[in-house]
Amino acid sequence: MRLSGKSALITGAARGIGLEFARAYLREGARVAICDINLEAARAAAAGLGQGAIAVALDVTDQASIDACVASVESQFGGIDILINNAALFTAAPITDITRADHDRIMAVNVSGTLFMMQAVARSMIARGQGGRIINMASQAGRRGEALVAVYCASKAAVISLTQSAGLNLIAHGITVNAIAPGVVDGEHWDGVDAFFAKYENKAPGQKKAEVGAAVPFGRMGTAADLTGMAVFLASRDADYIVAQTYNVDGGNWLS
Ligand SMILES: NC(=O)c1ccc[n+]([C@@H]2O[C@H](COP(=O)([O-])OP(=O)(O)OC[C@H]3O[C@@H](n4cnc5c(N)ncnc54)[C@H](O)[C@@H]3O)[C@@H](O)[C@H]2O)c1
Repeated sequence: MRLSGKSALITGAARGIGLEFARAYLREGARVAICDINLEAARAAAAGLGQGAIAVALDVTDQASIDACVASVESQFGGIDILINNAALFTAAPITDITRADHDRIMAVNVSGTLFMMQAVARSMIARGQGGRIINMASQAGRRGEALVAVYCASKAAVISLTQSAGLNLIAHGITVNAIAPGVVDGEHWDGVDAFFAKYENKAPGQKKAEVGAAVPFGRMGTAADLTGMAVFLASRDADYIVAQTYNVDGGNWLS
């Protein structure tokens, strides 16, 4: 029960990694707000998790939605101790095919969404005066470019940079900001990634997934459950002195 009595707001938690984080946080004694643009899925997820989980509508690209979501979680939980910025979109295309609309859509969710969620929750944490924890979901994609993944890679590099700047700024208020950089994690997100590569690299459905899994030094793709240890640790007292860092949890894919 390392998060006993804590309250957490997790963005994009209606499915995938965010939902697994919510499950792990509940096991550790926290209450969790499943905040997602897909409110129906968020409600189903919260109902499935049971006591201690609530669902709140959130579009991280819309400032009014961010403000309403943070106010709602604050009032239902009496304050926010932990924010996980997990909501994100993926896209892939050669440089010559990237559209401005696609670029703007990805950056609005992955970069601006992360920044303005941090801002709204940090304001709430500072007003409450009890410090807090912010965990941003980066990616191995943010560590280097990829031929077909320019926009997503750039967005995750920006998440690593925002984590550093916000971490250095907010530690003055007792708020730590850190990030997790997963490698390749099986789930609906990667089904979408696989479809992009099937199109651009002329691969059979599932082929790219099998290839990236086989290439992981650990010997397989990650699962959402592989990431929960780091997500709990960074939110716990054991991580008090960790500031502005990004941790790879990727089976050995990236060394830094
Ligand atoms: N799956 C992987 O292999 C992998 C690897 C590295 C990093 N990551 C990162 O981990 C995080 C979670 O990934 P996942 O695989 O669970 O993704 P996912 O696509 O399964 O889930 C993303 C969730 O975000 C929600 N969302 C989308 N736009 C939103 C918006 N505007 N406002 C609020 N919610 C919104 C979606 O409804 C969905 O529930 C993401 O930040 C992703 O970039 C994933």
